[in-house]
Amino acid sequence: MRCITYLVASSSLLFPFSQASALDRRAALDECLTKLNVPTFISSSANYTQAIKPFNTRVTFKPAAYAVPETTQHVQDAVSCGASNGVRVTAKSGGHSYASHGLGGEDGHLIVDMRNFNNVTVDPTAQTAAIGTGGRLGNVAMALYNQTKQAISHGTCPGVGVGGLTLHGGYGLISRSKGLTLDNILEATVVLANSSVVTASETQHPDLFWALRGAGAAFGIVTSFKFKTFTAPESNIVFQYYLTPANASHLSTILTALQDFSLNTQPQELNMRFFLASFSSLSGVYFGTRADFDKLIAPLLAQMGISTTRGTITTNTWLNTLTSFSNGPLAQAKEYNSHETFFAKSLMPARLSLEAITALTTYWDTNARSNTRAWYLLIDLHGGNSSAVSAVPADATAYSHRDAVFKMQFYDRTYGNVYTESWTAFLNGWVQAIMDASPDAQDMGMYINYADTSLASEEAHRRYWGRHYERAVQVKRGWDPEGMFMGPQIVGR
Ligand SMILES: Cc1cc2nc3c(=O)[nH]c(=O)nc-3n(C[C@H](O)[C@H](O)[C@H](O)COP(=O)(O)OP(=O)(O)OC[C@H]3O[C@@H](n4cnc5c(N)ncnc54)[C@H](O)[C@@H]3O)c2cc1C
Ligand SMILES: *[C@@H]1O[C@H](CO)[C@@H](O)[C@H](O)[C@H]1NC(C)=O
Ligand SMILES: *[C@@H]1O[C@H](CO)[C@@H](O)[C@H](O)[C@H]1NC(C)=O
Ligand SMILES: *[C@@H]1O[C@H](CO)[C@@H](O)[C@H](O)[C@H]1NC(C)=O
Ligand SMILES: *[C@@H]1O[C@H](CO)[C@@H](O)[C@H](O)[C@H]1NC(C)=O
Ligand SMILES: *[C@@H]1O[C@H](CO)[C@@H](O)[C@H](O)[C@H]1NC(C)=O
Ligand SMILES: *[C@@H]1O[C@H](CO)[C@@H](O)[C@H](O)[C@H]1NC(C)=O
Repeated sequence: MRCITYLVASSSLLFPFSQASALDRRAALDECLTKLNVPTFISSSANYTQAIKPFNTRVTFKPAAYAVPETTQHVQDAVSCGASNGVRVTAKSGGHSYASHGLGGEDGHLIVDMRNFNNVTVDPTAQTAAIGTGGRLGNVAMALYNQTKQAISHGTCPGVGVGGLTLHGGYGLISRSKGLTLDNILEATVVLANSSVVTASETQHPDLFWALRGAGAAFGIVTSFKFKTFTAPESNIVFQYYLTPANASHLSTILTALQDFSLNTQPQELNMRFFLASFSSLSGVYFGTRADFDKLIAPLLAQMGISTTRGTITTNTWLNTLTSFSNGPLAQAKEYNSHETFFAKSLMPARLSLEAITALTTYWDTNARSNTRAWYLLIDLHGGNSSAVSAVPADATAYSHRDAVFKMQFYDRTYGNVYTESWTAFLNGWVQAIMDASPDAQDMGMYINYADTSLASEEAHRRYWGRHYERAVQVKRGWDPEGMFMGPQIVGR
């Protein structure tokens, strides 16, 4: 089902990559790929049907062709087939984009599925690791751990792909201590629009390296990253406190306390998130001692009106810490088969005003509490004066949310695989209510890793990249002058 109408005018200007007849070029594309021995899933095969089913089944697209390369040369050849046929090319790693950007975000792309690029090779002396972009987080975490107990900072769900997560952010339960996933990249190996391969780093093609860290989908196909790793911490306090806000003013008190804590008091070692749904919780990880944790959390819980006895607190090894939040085993099959049907939005506010908090909690009281779908609002305590994410200078990477106190994810779904488009009004209304009460609503960012299908391209660009957008466009002109890597929301024009 197509969920949004995209502006066609801007794409048709992008000769030679016109979408108008991309699907008619299927036969020529398949012929080119076959001639160059690039492995593909042909559209009549069961593998193809399985592979194009996105994580979010609400948002489906028809590719023009589907390549499954095994070598860098295959990726280069696939890109050249896209170029010679005037078809846009899109890399897919884990396929977890909320707007199915890994399938192009629109019909008619040549998809380059990176599933075979899943090697993880640790250099224990240097504490670095070469990681293929097609790996899934759970498998990568286990492989790093197996090789001299290393780790990187990454998101919580084990099925998410390294490629999309890293190129656009990557926030998880050690990010406050170690930064975003993209903050830990030392090098990226990239197949460019003209099929040549370059390595980008602080010293090699720094403009490309800047753009890849936050806006990566629009510049090439990254085959692997070199990451800085750290030795996995093995004695971690995992906590979860349950609570039910009594009413809107209680929820306002909770959010105000969390915001003040994140901005001023929360140390790097404490990572946490507030989950608001039909049941609510405060959960996270403390990388320190139980005694220090108790001292830190008690005053916050008191402010939030949560009893210290409403919690579960355990001490965990690194892999158990990961599985405490992974909602299933870390090991992931190559042929991925988990799906949801949903609509989601995000907000990355520098700070929520008292009026904005009141608008949020009033809407919760009047519209959300009575909504019986499986919606949630997940608030990560992202920034503040001791967060490693905020410590990186605002313009050092294309990621544009260094000052955001919260990373807010609004998610609405049913457990059946249906989602009626009119239901989007629920979350659109919630975010609008917060915006209407915010003096800085124009500047409020959104996170492309929670891609929002309701945003037209101009708003998507502004919300995802803010003042970094124009610089990203300049960089793109140098590396993808003809607009091969385009989509409805990624950096373009
Ligand atoms: C269940 C679930 C849990 C999540 N948890 C977290 C979390 O804890 N923290 C967090 O920060 N985010 C989280 N996310 C969001 C996630 O980071 C994004 O959806 C991310 O973009 C997914 O990456 P992917 O490779 O799986 O997706 P894809 O759909 O394959 O790719 C996403 C985008 O990246 C581009 N891309 C992918 N690979 C490459 C490549 N090799 N070269 C160039 N471009 C590429 C694609 O073209 C597309 O535009 C979660 C998402 C889901 C569905
Ligand atoms: C294609 O699908 C078959 C049957 O599901 C599976 O056994 C095979 O491994 C798949 N091929 C690839 C290359 O994934
Ligand atoms: C992965 O590693 C194996 C073994 O070292 C190697 O043969 C293969 O080429 C690598 N694959 C990729 C895609 O880098
Ligand atoms: C890691 O090692 C464990 C235990 O030896 C093994 O079960 C698992 O398959 C390995 N995983 C990876 C990704 O290497
Ligand atoms: C909201 O709940 C709090 C905590 O239970 C309570 O003290 C307060 O009186 C309630 N306020 C209203 C307006 O009901
Ligand atoms: C963090 O910032 C607040 C002001 O917002 C200040 O009161 C506090 O002392 C700062 N803490 C540290 C450790 O710098
Ligand atoms: C490929 O494109 C890059 C970036 O525009 C350029 O530097 C390089 O010279 C090109 N390579 C070839 C072989 O044209």
